Amino acid sequence: MISLAVNETIARAVEVLRENDHGDYTIPTKGLYPFQWNWDSCLTALGLAHYDEARAWTEIETLFAHQWPDGMVPHIVFHVLNDSYFPGPEIWRTNRPTATSGITQPAVAGFAVRRLFDRAKDKELAAERARALLPKIDAWHRWFYENRDPRGEGLVAIIHPWESGRDNSIDWDDAFERVPTEGVEAYTRRDTLHADPAHRPTKAQYDRYLWLLQHFRALGWDNAKLHDASPFQIVDPGFNAILIRSAADLADLAETLGEMEIAKANRARAEKGLLAMERLWSDAHGQYLCLDRVIGKLVDSASVGGILPVFSAIPKPRIAAIAATIERIAGKARYIVPSHDLDDPRFDAKRYWRGPVWLVVNYMIADGLAASGHTQVAQRITRSSVDLIAESGFAEYYDPLSGEPLGGGRFTWTAAMVIEFLKSER
Ligand code: GLC
Repeated sequence: MISLAVNETIARAVEVLRENDHGDYTIPTKGLYPFQWNWDSCLTALGLAHYDEARAWTEIETLFAHQWPDGMVPHIVFHVLNDSYFPGPEIWRTNRPTATSGITQPAVAGFAVRRLFDRAKDKELAAERARALLPKIDAWHRWFYENRDPRGEGLVAIIHPWESGRDNSIDWDDAFERVPTEGVEAYTRRDTLHADPAHRPTKAQYDRYLWLLQHFRALGWDNAKLHDASPFQIVDPGFNAILIRSAADLADLAETLGEMEIAKANRARAEKGLLAMERLWSDAHGQYLCLDRVIGKLVDSASVGGILPVFSAIPKPRIAAIAATIERIAGKARYIVPSHDLDDPRFDAKRYWRGPVWLVVNYMIADGLAASGHTQVAQRITRSSVDLIAESGFAEYYDPLSGEPLGGGRFTWTAAMVIEFLKSER
């Protein structure tokens, strides 16, 4: 009986993936996000591999076909024209052969490619496709440390909230006060046509997103200049942990495939990053915090960004402390892991990245906890994720208190993660 229900849910998840499949890339969901998104695609590939390994490799290859000459992999590739999304290519104006945005997103490709390779039934195909991707992912990692860690501290900064993948987190609020809004061109949002405005960022926040965009555009999208010129430079522990994990995974994969230079460079990046990450630890919160690089201070905001580091090889006592923090949160939320600590008065159960649960984040946290022996907490997160699907379908995100589905529906990476969770539960 149970396995029947599981098969049925997997079949429904596959339907969502197929529905959003555009041949060589997958869109996150119709209407709200009609293009290819960077980290969505990499995590989606894991779900695609469940029924078509070749197609899974293509998903990541398509993304990397639009890598910039300097090594950056953009956060959106605008493969087709579609005016249901704002800001579109006419706002970014990055001057690429196929239009892309001008900023990046969490570097989860190294992790995804290694996982695809490790699980591949067709090993020959996997070796061939992974070998071709290795130098590209390596170039992206090099780009990060050269352009987003110009003083060689070991950790990279994001220069726009959208780079974090946690677009509207409370983590950015204080630093955002420093971002001006003068000179922002008139615009019409599209996100609020597809989703409830009460679940989306406010106008004040949107103005600042656009101010930063215009500022970078005025600098010709020259990454050698953007970091230092940005009034917003945040060292996000979650973002760095994903990059560190990807660097370590890429190093392992490169070693397997005999690419020793790539292995060495990425091993060094991961080791340096892990040491530097310790500067972000907070005993008071039992998790890591963001660092505001402009003022050199930790940001007092306990978000899931500081829990995500369990995805990388942080010290064992840190993992145990974070597992305890998740247990504490689980005492208050029906579904875990909320994107913000419920004890913080700024917590908002329904608004985008200020409280709701995202299954992709759950996946990475559970993966890290399981790998370090915290199986019970990991299973609890997996259970929560599967329950959310059963009760509320394949939503973009969920209210951690009620389980209500929020944001876009029929969401690609949510479906991909469900396949992953159900297979791991088996
Ligand atoms: C939102 C999310 C971002 C994601 C995108 C597409 O912008 O904040 O992380 O990549 O949607 O799903």
